Parts: sequence; structure tokens; C-alpha cells
Amino acid sequence: MVKVLMVCLGNICRSPLAEGILRSKLPKDKFFVDSAGTGNWHEGHQPDERSILTAKNRGLDISCQKARQIKRSDLSEFDHIYVMDSYNLRDVTQLASDAEAKKKIKLMMDEIFPGQNIDVPDPYHGGQKGFDKVYDMLDEACELVAKKLIKQHA
Ligand code: 4NP
Repeated sequence: MVKVLMVCLGNICRSPLAEGILRSKLPKDKFFVDSAGTGNWHEGHQPDERSILTAKNRGLDISCQKARQIKRSDLSEFDHIYVMDSYNLRDVTQLASDAEAKKKIKLMMDEIFPGQNIDVPDPYHGGQKGFDKVYDMLDEACELVAKKLIKQHA
């Protein structure tokens, strides 16, 4: 099983969407997709209702997900770790104890715009539109990630 982890701050807005979207694009018998937050405030919570609605409008049910905080062992357990913004990149990189773990961590938007350091914006303090925009960004990035991973792990 190839294991992919999506990471944001709260694990209730962006990374649950990323988890749902990427999972929908990968064969289930080969890939395991999960998500986590660098913070622990929402541990055990469902995704934000706005993320659930945005996903539902695109035909994706993410309502069963439960938020959790990333832990050091995730860095060895997962094969690929995608972070949503530069803060996540800093925080997850700090958790990585060696070069092998650091190598697994990638900024999500680098998949579309390599080296441009583009963040998936945190939609938490805005309205539904912000969640729809995040969905579009993640859908495009996940399409490329899925193609790459399927090829890489064929
Ligand atoms: P996320 O958004 O990192 O995309 O899940 C946030 C959710 C909650 C908070 C911040 C960002 N918060 O401060 O509670």
C-alpha cells in the first residue's frame, strides 16, 4: 500500500478536501490517503460544514472524516506528504528527523507551479466562495499528483 498524507493547520478545511479529492482519483487497492493538521484544536471533529458542502456540491462525501494532529511517526509511515502552505511546510519539516523524511514533504501547489511557493489559502475566516476556490485549486493539483503517483508506483 502506498500511503499519502495531506496536511494543513486545523485538518477541518483544506486537507479534508485534499484527502477526499485525491482518494477519488486513485485506485483504492493500491493507495491509502489520509489527512492531518499541524494544530490539535479540532482533534476528533468532522470537517468544517463549508468544506463538507463544497465537496457535496461536487459529488464528494467527506463528512465521515475525523480531524487529527500530525505525529512524528507519520513522517516514517507515509510515503508522500503534501502540505497546503508555507507554515505547514515549516512545521512538518521541523517534525522530520532525517533527510529521508524531509524528502517526502512537498508543497501542494508546487505540483502545478514548481518552485513558485504558492499557498492553498486558508478559507476558515471567509465564506463559501473561498472553499470553492480551494476545491478548484486542489482538484487541479490532485489530478497531477494522482497521475504522477500511479505512474511512479506502477
Ligand atoms: P485548515 O483551516 O487549516 O484548512 O483546516 C483552519 C481551520 C481552523 C483554524 C485555522 C485554520 N483555527 O484556527 O481554528
